[in-house]
Amino acid sequence: KNPIITVIGSLNMDLVTVTERVPQQGETITGQSFSTFPGGKGANQAVAAARLGAEVFMLGKVGNDSFGKQLKDLLSQEDIHEEYVEMSTDKETGTASITISGHDNRIIVVPGANHEVTPEWVTRHESQIKKSDLLLLQLEIPLDSVVKATEIANKHGVPVILNPAPYQKLPKKLIESVTFLTPNEYEFKQFLVEATHEERDMILAKSIVTKGEEGVEFQLDNQKMTVPAIQVDVVDTTGAGDTFNGALAVSYAKSNNLKEAALFATLAASLSVTKMGAQTGMPSNKEMEKTINFGQN
Ligand code: RIB
Ligand code: NA
Repeated sequence: KNPIITVIGSLNMDLVTVTERVPQQGETITGQSFSTFPGGKGANQAVAAARLGAEVFMLGKVGNDSFGKQLKDLLSQEDIHEEYVEMSTDKETGTASITISGHDNRIIVVPGANHEVTPEWVTRHESQIKKSDLLLLQLEIPLDSVVKATEIANKHGVPVILNPAPYQKLPKKLIESVTFLTPNEYEFKQFLVEATHEERDMILAKSIVTKGEEGVEFQLDNQKMTVPAIQVDVVDTTGAGDTFNGALAVSYAKSNNLKEAALFATLAASLSVTKMGAQTGMPSNKEMEKTINFGQN
């Protein structure tokens, strides 16, 4: 049976400029290319999960503008339920201005309508949270809304994966109530710096830390586990973390097996960086099987 995964989070249009180098202050240079790609950590994770066979419901807000319409259309093309992606009456669709020069990747996010995902708005979708096998969250909507969504999930016994990106200090109550945290190395370090002693133990026990080319690290029965990434030609790492989270959610909802889910998600994330754009390289189950079979030959 395909798991039902609900994502409450951001939808952005990514405005991507590729350039040989980043301009200095006050300088104008000529870049190499410009394209728009669907993005936002919420929508990216929804797409990753849907391509891997989950029944995905995306909940969030876009503007009543052309980006908003495009983003909703693209979700439905991915067979994602997008009826709970609401169009704001006065805020624009979120954008991410991304500059890529070689391995240097810089992003400015303007949240726009994403910040209208309030705790009250989340509460109105309690029945959708309740019927999910897993709830997937990130930090591109207000933190209070993430707390509220987690509370509702807890009430109905729905596991929660929180991708704590972009970094924010989390209230203890939230760390306590999520099933897993999926920080990258930088976010993980920040957590440990700011955490109290008690929080620290919880963070260590619940974190699945993504380390880029080095794969992922987590604790299982008090033992440190590492899953290596596979070697690929890197084109664009935008959305690799999102692919990891979407894939982890699908596999964990199916198997309840963290190790298996971490392996699956690491492979999916490795494949995702071989194409330009956050969602373009996200693999289907078929592509995952091909890679796994190839590896065994
Ligand atoms: O995680 C990648 C995403 O973060 C991009 O798609 C961009 O929208 C930013 O929000
Ligand atoms: Na990519």
